[in-house]
Amino acid sequence: MPEATSATHDSAPDTVLVVDFGAQYAQLIARRVREARVYSEIVPSTMPVAEMLAKNPKAIILSGGPSSVYEEGAPQLDRAIFEAGVPVFGMCYGFQLMAVTLGGTVDNTGAREYGRTQLAVSKPGSTLFEGTPENQSVWMSHGDACSAAPEGFTVTASTGVVPVAAFENDEKKLYGVQYHPEVMHSTHGQQVLEHFLYRGAGLKPTWTTGNIVEEQIAAIREQVGDKRAICGLSGGVDSAVAAALVQKAIGSQLTCVYVDHGLMRKGETEQVEKDFVAATGVQLKVVDAQERFLNALAGVSDPETKRKIIGREFIRVFEQAQLEILQEDGPAVAFLVQGTLYPDVVESGGGTGTANIKSHHNVGGLPDDIEFELVEPLRQLFKDEVRMVGQELGLPDEIVQRQPFPGPGLGIRIVGEVTKERLDLLREADAIARHELTAAGLDREIWQCPVVLLADVRSVGVQGDGRTYGHPIVLRPVSSEDAMTADWTRMPYEVLARISTRITNEVADVNRVVLDCTSKPPGTIEWE
Ligand code: XMP
Repeated sequence: MPEATSATHDSAPDTVLVVDFGAQYAQLIARRVREARVYSEIVPSTMPVAEMLAKNPKAIILSGGPSSVYEEGAPQLDRAIFEAGVPVFGMCYGFQLMAVTLGGTVDNTGAREYGRTQLAVSKPGSTLFEGTPENQSVWMSHGDACSAAPEGFTVTASTGVVPVAAFENDEKKLYGVQYHPEVMHSTHGQQVLEHFLYRGAGLKPTWTTGNIVEEQIAAIREQVGDKRAICGLSGGVDSAVAAALVQKAIGSQLTCVYVDHGLMRKGETEQVEKDFVAATGVQLKVVDAQERFLNALAGVSDPETKRKIIGREFIRVFEQAQLEILQEDGPAVAFLVQGTLYPDVVESGGGTGTANIKSHHNVGGLPDDIEFELVEPLRQLFKDEVRMVGQELGLPDEIVQRQPFPGPGLGIRIVGEVTKERLDLLREADAIARHELTAAGLDREIWQCPVVLLADVRSVGVQGDGRTYGHPIVLRPVSSEDAMTADWTRMPYEVLARISTRITNEVADVNRVVLDCTSKPPGTIEWE
C-alpha cells in the first residue's frame, strides 16, 4: 500500500510546530502563523520532544493552556526542547512553563488579569517589539505571574500587575510573552508573532496555497498510482475542492458521484453538473434520485424523522452508484476521496499522521470485503485556505465562496411535509432572497441565511383585489464564526423590503415574509 503522504513529507515546507497545551487558542495560533505565510502544524503537548524534533521544525510555539504550572498533573515539557537549537516562542501557559523550566520564577500572586490589558514595552527595539508602540493593548488570561526571567533573558515588557510580561534571549533564540498575541484584541499581536518568525527564527514568508496544490498533486499521484478513485460531491466547498485537486492529479482515474436528492436550492445541481464539470473536466455520475426521496419523505413532518430518512436514502443511493462504478471495466477502484479539513483532523485527535486506511461502512449493497484507502488532500488546510485552493484551481466563485448549506437541504427548511410543490415554491423564494443579498453585497457579512417555508401555517392576506390564504416565508439571516453560536444579522431595512416585496409578488401562495430575530442560543440556525 503506498505511503499516503510521503511525497508531501519529502518536499515538506519549513514547518512551525504549535504545541497544544489544551487551549482553544492552538488552532488560532496555527492560523496566524499561516497568515504570516509560514506553514504550521499542531502537535499535542504529550508528544515526546524527540518526536517533535524528528519533524525537523524550524521553530516551535508553545500555546496557552488552562492549567497553572504548579498544579499537580499540569502539562510539562522536557527541557531538551529548549536545548535543541530550534527557536521557541512561549505564549501564556507556554511562557510560564518556559520560565519555570529554565530557572525563572512564576508566582501565584493572586493577582489575576483577564481580558484587555495595557502592556508597557521596556525595550522598544527588541526582536519581538521593534516598530510597535511602547504602550499597546494585549489580551491576558492568567492567574500566575512571572516575577523573574531565567538567566540570560532580557525582560522586554511588563504590565501593572506582571513585572515580566515578555522576555527574550536572542543568543538562544528563545522568546516568550505572558499574553495572547494570536487574538484580535492584542492590537500588535500579529506583528509580534511575525517578528518571532522572521527575525527570531529567520523564516521567510513563502508558504502559499499554490505550493499546496503542487505538493498535493505529487502526493496524490504517488498514493493512487494507476488505480482509480471515487469521490462523492455534495455541492459544498470541501468536496468540490478535494475532487478538483484529485482530478488535476489523476484525471480520468477519478469518477465523481453526485446524488440529486431534489432538496438542493435553485441552480445548485446545474452548478455541479455544468459549471464544476466545465471548470475541472471531471467524470461525473449524476444519480437522479428525486422521486425516491420524495416517496420516502411522503407524509413525514417530524424533523428528526426527515433527517434520518434523508441520511439513509442518501447512503443507499451513493453506495449503489459506487457498486456500479466498481463493476465497470478498468483498473481497480481502491481510493475514496474525502474533503476532510484540518480542524476535523485536530478535533478528532488525529494529529498530523498519514491517511488512515478505513473499511467503508456497509449500509446497503456493497460487498463486505471492499476497502477503500482514503485520499484527503485538504487535511492540512483551514476553510479559508480551501477556498483559496479552489480559486487557484479555477473553480467558479459560486462554488468556492458558498455559504454553509445543510446536508438534508431544503428538506429541513420546510416546516411540515416535504412535497414537490412546496420545494419548488421554497426554491423560488430562496433564489430571490439570495439574489438580493448578493446584489446588496451582504454575502460576506451574513454567515448564512436560511429561507424557511412554514408550510403548515396559513395566514390571511390581500393581494390584487382579493383575499388570499397563503403561507409565510421566514428569513433567517445570521452572523457567526463557527455556527456554534450566532446572532441575527441587522441587515438594512431596504434590502429586507426588496426581498419581501419580490417574494410576495413573485411566489404564488406566499403572502407574508417575516424576519427571524432570534440569536443562537436559544434558537438554532435551521428551523428543523
Ligand atoms: P443549527 O441549526 O444546529 O446549525 O444551528 C448549525 C450549522 O449546521 C448546519 N446544519 C447541518 N449541516 N447536516 C449538515 O450538513 C445537517 O443535518 C445540518 N443541520 C444543521 C446549519 O446549516 C448551520 O450551518
